[in-house]
Amino acid sequence: VQLKSYNTFGIAAIARYFRTFDSAAALSEVLAMVTDKDLPKMILGGGSNLLFTGDYNGLVLKNDIRGIAVVKEDNDYVYVKAGAGESWHGFVQHCIAQQLAGLENLSLIPGNVGASPMQNIGAYGVEIKDVFHELEALHLQDREVVHFNNTDCRFGYRESVFKKEYRQQFAILSVTYRLRKQPQFNTSYGAINEELQRMGVQDLSIQAISQAVINIRSSKLPDPAKIGNAGSFFKNPTVAKEKFEQLKAAYPELVAYPAGDDRYKLAAGWLIEQCGWKGYRKGDAGVHARQALVLVNYGAAQGNEIYQLSQEVLDSVAAKFGVELEREVNII
Ligand code: FAD
Ligand code: EPU
Repeated sequence: VQLKSYNTFGIAAIARYFRTFDSAAALSEVLAMVTDKDLPKMILGGGSNLLFTGDYNGLVLKNDIRGIAVVKEDNDYVYVKAGAGESWHGFVQHCIAQQLAGLENLSLIPGNVGASPMQNIGAYGVEIKDVFHELEALHLQDREVVHFNNTDCRFGYRESVFKKEYRQQFAILSVTYRLRKQPQFNTSYGAINEELQRMGVQDLSIQAISQAVINIRSSKLPDPAKIGNAGSFFKNPTVAKEKFEQLKAAYPELVAYPAGDDRYKLAAGWLIEQCGWKGYRKGDAGVHARQALVLVNYGAAQGNEIYQLSQEVLDSVAAKFGVELEREVNII
């Protein structure tokens, strides 16, 4: 099966086998039919955070489990469970329409519900761990359903137990979020306040924050429908205080934020831009002109060309600043 339309990078790669499932039982049935125990398997959501560097010599399992339901309610919260195959932004909009708060800062992130815990998706001051209640996942080998609570997931910045330790061992089936009846607005990210002012918002609401986030994102992130990409290709790196001070002295315009424990988070986009990559293009592989953290495919780039470019970017940042970037996108 051709995977080009199943990944937002628009990379042409062939999957040896491809199945779609819409329930835990259907997935279990497919897995039971696999006789080769060593056959590589991967779960696919919206394909917006991965890079195929070649054909996939295994079984791609596309998660299409649907459904949104309120499962519990107390004085302050409503617990909403969503099927892994629901579109993330569609789910966010659904909750906002029900006046349920907590997801508004995460508006317009591409992909599906099931991948949201994978890397603890985050944007504009909020991460999924702030609203996550629990998830159900099916173990691909023994086909048992396991529950994970917030602690079990070991969420970190763009990390969870599913991204490394349990890589491709579980299919996340559903995720339950704990949403507030009374909103607690988070406008800590400077750009949101600026946009709210520009919009002329008087009374803050979850709708207004969602719209501000949508406006900011649309202005700088490339639309995958037009230019292939998977969002930020690298994580923002953290460095020790001494390293930060050394860099700040050499580059006063350095963009950095305190990250606790005497550490500082650096804007990788700034580092990459300083190395001269912004707007770079070689063949159809490039670095986005408005956000240097995003690598792009102008049409016919191959996965290994994007990967090669990411290596050159990594090497140049290491050479100029002595900082190691880490890829954020899942390399397949
Ligand atoms: P996929 O790309 O399909 O999968 C990602 C990984 O998760 C793969 O390893 C896959 O095997 C695994 N996986 C997927 N679904 C399941 C499942 N049900 N069970 C087990 N494993 C699974 N991310 C952010 O955090 N913040 C942002 O602001 C942000 N902005 C973006 C902007 C753009 C323009 C783009 C293209 C991407 C952006 N991303 C962002 C990255 C991406 O949208 C998120 O990581 C999203 O959660 C990926 O969802 P997906 O369904 O497309 O996952
Ligand atoms: N910057 C530059 N040049 C660039 C890009 C950024 O100088 O080309 C500097 C700017 O000074 C800017 C600062 O970096 O103020 C931060 O940029 P931005 O607000 O765009 O955020 P980011 O750190 O580049 C992170 C996430 C995004 C998320 C935004 C908003 C990571 C790896 N990326 O980007 O997530 O949407 O913050 O919260 O943490 C994603 O994961 O795919 C993604 C898009």
